[in-house]
Amino acid sequence: MRIKVKTGERQSSLGDLYGIFFEDLNHAADGGLYGELVCNRSFEFDEIDNPSYHHLTGWERIGSEYAVKLCVETGNPVSGRNPHYLSMDIQQPGSFVGVKNSGFHGGICLEEGGKYLFSCYAKREQDLDRPLRISLCSEEGKVLAEGSAMLTREWKKYAFTFQAEEKTNRGFLALTGEGRGKIYLDFVSLFPADTFRGRENGMRRDLAELLEELHPKFMRFPGGCLTHDGALDPEARDAQYRWKNTVGPLEERPARRNNWCYNQTLGLGFYEYFLFCEDIGTKPLPVLSPGYDPHHHREAPLGEMQYFIDEALDLIEFANGGADTEWGGLRAAMGHPEPFGMEYLGIGNEEVGEAFFDRFRAVCRAVQERYPEMKIVGTAGPYAGGSEYERGWRHAREDGIALVDEHYYMTPEWFLTNHHRYDSFRSEDPHVFLGEYASKGNTWWNALCEASYMIGLERNAHAVDLACYAPLLCASDYVNWKPDLIWFDGSRSFGTANYYVQKLFMRNQGKDTLAMEFEEQVGTRVWADEKDSITGEILLHTDCEETEYREIRLKNCKTGEEKQFAPVILQGGKECFSLGTVDWAEYTITAKAKRRKGERGFLVTFGEKENGNRFTWIVGGWQNQDVMLEEWIGGHGSCLDQYLMSVEPEREYELRLHIAGRRIRAWIDGRLVQDVTADPLCAEELYCSAAMDGAGNIILKVVNVLPEEQEAAFLLEGIGKGAHPVEIYEMSHFEREWENSFEEPLRVSPVEKRQEIQGDSFSYCFPKESLTILKIQG
Ligand code: AHR
Repeated sequence: MRIKVKTGERQSSLGDLYGIFFEDLNHAADGGLYGELVCNRSFEFDEIDNPSYHHLTGWERIGSEYAVKLCVETGNPVSGRNPHYLSMDIQQPGSFVGVKNSGFHGGICLEEGGKYLFSCYAKREQDLDRPLRISLCSEEGKVLAEGSAMLTREWKKYAFTFQAEEKTNRGFLALTGEGRGKIYLDFVSLFPADTFRGRENGMRRDLAELLEELHPKFMRFPGGCLTHDGALDPEARDAQYRWKNTVGPLEERPARRNNWCYNQTLGLGFYEYFLFCEDIGTKPLPVLSPGYDPHHHREAPLGEMQYFIDEALDLIEFANGGADTEWGGLRAAMGHPEPFGMEYLGIGNEEVGEAFFDRFRAVCRAVQERYPEMKIVGTAGPYAGGSEYERGWRHAREDGIALVDEHYYMTPEWFLTNHHRYDSFRSEDPHVFLGEYASKGNTWWNALCEASYMIGLERNAHAVDLACYAPLLCASDYVNWKPDLIWFDGSRSFGTANYYVQKLFMRNQGKDTLAMEFEEQVGTRVWADEKDSITGEILLHTDCEETEYREIRLKNCKTGEEKQFAPVILQGGKECFSLGTVDWAEYTITAKAKRRKGERGFLVTFGEKENGNRFTWIVGGWQNQDVMLEEWIGGHGSCLDQYLMSVEPEREYELRLHIAGRRIRAWIDGRLVQDVTADPLCAEELYCSAAMDGAGNIILKVVNVLPEEQEAAFLLEGIGKGAHPVEIYEMSHFEREWENSFEEPLRVSPVEKRQEIQGDSFSYCFPKESLTILKIQG
């Protein structure tokens, strides 16, 4: 293969292409990046957060139930916004009677010699001459650091710096009282002094450093679903994420229900996000909901949008306004008089339907009017294609917004097959923000396929502005979603294979793409079992508790042969009905279907192979609102197309699928709702992009996904004749299924080499299944 890189011909700016997406799911913030070590520090955990929670979750009594009674009260709180506090009633004084907290991960990790900042609010009713003792202990109860305070009858904040005598991975914090009577405690907090950049109320250092080392150009926050799931009343305990609740004194930030089934203290709030972005040299990209919760079908009345408009305008003022403005003044009072320089604002996350876009438009217009330079990010729903995806793009064009947020989680093979997805996108349209994507897994194969896809993003930098892998962080003992980029426990963390791919691409992004010519066509390998048709078993299932199918027919459109089947009633679970296995080039599947019990709808699978690879058609899926066509490979599904529709109970629907070659069309009650061509799995012989960085270096990124090495001859047209030092970063010689782990955190990670090329031409042999980055001094 011969590849010419025109080093003097810059094409598109790569701008802020690669960034990160932070969402507090998988305990990414509380118990993760946010440095707080105490779980349930202000006794606000509640069953609204998680049915198993109560106000004492995370806390345990020390001493017998006769010695000390624990109870949570609300009568006279430190802050009415976090009204609960602990009353510890000591009835039998002893040497070690009180409460303990073991943190988020079954124990608090303390380093030998490590310094820890403790603080709490406390008061007591009697025995004012007897101390409250605060101890950091090992798992066995050995005291590793200790302090004490004499309390008064009024709430007062107490603070200590402790130094742990020994290391422990399963330690705890104990608060024990001498004397009798009630001791009250609230906002009990313990932070390592050694947070990222040594900031107070700061970030856990190892996790923050893993993020910093990526060199992301932007950070999207505070989440995806987290931004829109919740009640619209900002004061409700299960309110939507409202940024104004996350700034100002910690005590005044109302703990909230996080939709990922836990509690969010909001100690890591918008000020901290902006500050962290500044600390790691990345641009902030906050996302707000315009008063629409798709999960619970809550929408702000259109006549009452001012609240949500102000949310957006005030946020921009908070980030960018002068210290003499109301919200800029709050930022200054929190310690940052200089503006944060926010350039992007996301409005919405994955919402579908016109009702959302009516609300989007109200907020978007107000921002466009007051801050025309703000780059607004709209949304194209949760899938890579289909009617709601199209709706998102249509609105983006109509509303003249800068970027459209696309999300998809697919099989690695989908990423190979869809490498050219953005080739037809035009630079004059809104640009793409690929705000969430991942192939389903953390193996080397997943990471490699993502790398090949990222080459396609770079080649299309005229239309793709921003891209970030998702999700970012995951606590190994609390998994809402996987795969994830970084895994951690109480003390350890590691980057996945996908992390190292992202890191190489981010650190070697380059400034502009360079024109390339492939002097021989890059070959394509088709990997599918068959490439011209979709053949295999056809099955009817139910996606609810009970479905009745009748008038079931299967027809070979080429021969006219038709099979008819007697009516069936399918119960939920694994029950299904086979229509047989076909190897036809064109066929139709028809049936009348009625939901008799349950919540969702119907499910048809076709093209099913013995290895389980198949296509599925789901009618009334997810929250009974989607019709989805999916392709399943290796146990993972890719949604190829989505259409919005709910299945009504006891109503009969006429379902029809027509499969012609690899084209799949679907009708419901005679209406064509989906028309998709599922390309056969394929991969190119080599994926390559070329860029120039700010220092004039030429960066070649090359991905070989094939099981054999590939040689390429490069001509760097326009580069000087002499010797050119080359930095090489290579990920290769891994088995496809390899993953990193706590025990082997660098099993799949790059190696670095140096080389020199003479003149403008050189050949390079790319190992099988490898990613190589060549940074050539220009
Ligand atoms: O990244 C995990 C979730 O996936 C996000 O919250 C949501 O936007 C998407 O559905």
